[in-house]
Amino acid sequence: MIRQLADQSFAIVDEVLPAAQLHALQQCAQRMLAMHAKPAGTGRGPEHSLDASIRQDRIVWLDAADAGSASYLAHMELLRQQLNQQLFLGLFSYEAHFASYASGAFYRKHLDAFKGGRNRRLSTVFYLNDDWQPHTGGELLMYQNDGETVVAKVTPLANRMVLFLSEEFPHEVLPATRQRLSIAGWFAGA
Ligand code: OGA
Ligand code: MN
Repeated sequence: MIRQLADQSFAIVDEVLPAAQLHALQQCAQRMLAMHAKPAGTGRGPEHSLDASIRQDRIVWLDAADAGSASYLAHMELLRQQLNQQLFLGLFSYEAHFASYASGAFYRKHLDAFKGGRNRRLSTVFYLNDDWQPHTGGELLMYQNDGETVVAKVTPLANRMVLFLSEEFPHEVLPATRQRLSIAGWFAGA
């Protein structure tokens, strides 16, 4: 992961969590989303709005007080320390939400770092979907800075994580033919 990030400013890694931790996280995601999911918005503060022509996922923020969320947040805290030690990224915090895309739902091409926003430096997406088939769709399409050239098309397979510099890579979520679960998160830096 570190080498990929150093070489290309993004990384795609598999088998991220032990099977038992992945399984617990999948259960936690289903439970949290069933109880608390809300339509996701775009923009921050006064810019915030709900726009189903841009994104159609439903989200709930991870909360360290919940055991399922806490184990993932602890994993990401260790990762933050490693990234700072090895890549000098100066990352100081992390926030993440579970996201559920219903069949047909999408998130149009966007950047994760808002101008004048809260210093999102490194985006992470962790996938929770077992048995994802090639014809199911739902890929994450990542583009070069120009927003035209595709650099990666990522199948949202369980236990896979994608990381990328938030200000560098426009990306979009293609519609799928089944529910698609992920945890999108962001490390903030100075
Ligand atoms: C996001 C996002 C990508 C994905 O939530 O900002 O781009 O693959 N998610 O779920
Ligand atoms: Mn995004």
